[in-house]
Amino acid sequence: MAKVFLKDVQKVYDNGFAAVKGASLDIADKEFMVIVGPSGCGKTTTLRMIAGLEEISGGTITIGSRVVNDVPPKDRDIAMVFQNYALYPHMTVFQNLAFSLKLRKYPKAEIKKRVSEVAEMLDISSQLDKKPKALSGGQRQRVALGRAIVRNPAAFLFDEPLSNLDAKLRVTTRAELKALHRRLNTTSIYVTHDQAEAMTLGDRICVMYNGEIQQVAAPMEVYDKPVNRFVAGFLGTPPMNFLKGKISSSDGKNVFILTDGDIVELKNDNGQLKSYMEKEMVLGVRPEHFTVEPFAGQSNNGIKSQVNVVEPLGDRKDVYMSSRSGQKFIANLDPHTAIDVDHQVTMYIDINKAHIFEPGETGKNITISKN
Ligand SMILES: Nc1ncnc2c1ncn2[C@@H]1O[C@H](COP(=O)(O)OP(=O)(O)OP(=O)(O)O)[C@@H](O)[C@H]1O
Ligand SMILES: [Mg+2]
Repeated sequence: MAKVFLKDVQKVYDNGFAAVKGASLDIADKEFMVIVGPSGCGKTTTLRMIAGLEEISGGTITIGSRVVNDVPPKDRDIAMVFQNYALYPHMTVFQNLAFSLKLRKYPKAEIKKRVSEVAEMLDISSQLDKKPKALSGGQRQRVALGRAIVRNPAAFLFDEPLSNLDAKLRVTTRAELKALHRRLNTTSIYVTHDQAEAMTLGDRICVMYNGEIQQVAAPMEVYDKPVNRFVAGFLGTPPMNFLKGKISSSDGKNVFILTDGDIVELKNDNGQLKSYMEKEMVLGVRPEHFTVEPFAGQSNNGIKSQVNVVEPLGDRKDVYMSSRSGQKFIANLDPHTAIDVDHQVTMYIDINKAHIFEPGETGKNITISKN
């Protein structure tokens, strides 16, 4: 059991590329932290630095109460599970599970006890005599997990461990992993580019982009209060819509004037909108915060739009729209909403749930109050 603490950790590869640009992250003992972000943002690099497989170019990494900057991987007391879990093909499942304990010269009886406990936990007890090639993908992944668990390390590091599984198995294994963490209560750092995995597994999630940590918070907080446009657009499917326009005031009220001319009234603010008056900004609206009927008390917050595509998905209807000036957005409606392709409709926004961002890829969310 251990906390893991990254302070201003940097990685510049030999070719001069800065893959991680000063990451600070405080992972509590027993916490399940998910690092999520698009391909190439520096997730694996960060994890490998924690594992000691990659030298750090700056900063400090602490595991437990020990700075491990110069501690070799084998002495860091952590176990890593990779995407390509690389079991030893010539060994049986039992031998695969026992391998690291054998290396550490555990007594035979202790190895047997630990392996059977872990096999029981992962429901692979009946597979112990088989070789990996005789197992299904899901069973192999469980053996890989078992190999990590059997050592009882201070922390687990996972690098996209489910990405080789098919969609259905990924969902069930994800749930098993969550249950397993509740049982073992070992500090875990889990890397994925899959936002659904991040939301469902993490006690907290750490969103990375371009080698930088953008936000660290509980999943729903990241979803409801994204600190910037990148985070807002990264979590959620379909993603948040971004509509261009400017903040202005009309009849003493703050409004957002879309480039299309439609005007939506903004909720009361703490004065933070003042410095953005008449500036180009971006209105962020999640697909589920549109409807064809106005929200209570918001009868003016409609955008006149054209319906381009309607996708009935059973539990909802995703509707692809474009505004009069051609701004595209997706609304996620009740599946029984009557709406036809090529028709003109007014889409209403629940402004209480909308966000306003500064322009640019990582434009700051100015609507979340800082207290
Ligand atoms: N050995 C290396 N030398 C130079 N650049 C590297 C090296 N390893 C990785 N990079 C670069 O560093 C960046 C981060 O790589 P990293 O593997 O950490 O990304 P990632 O977030 O894990 O992506 P993915 O989701 O695709 O696995 C990438 O742009 C990658 O090309
Ligand atoms: Mg990676």
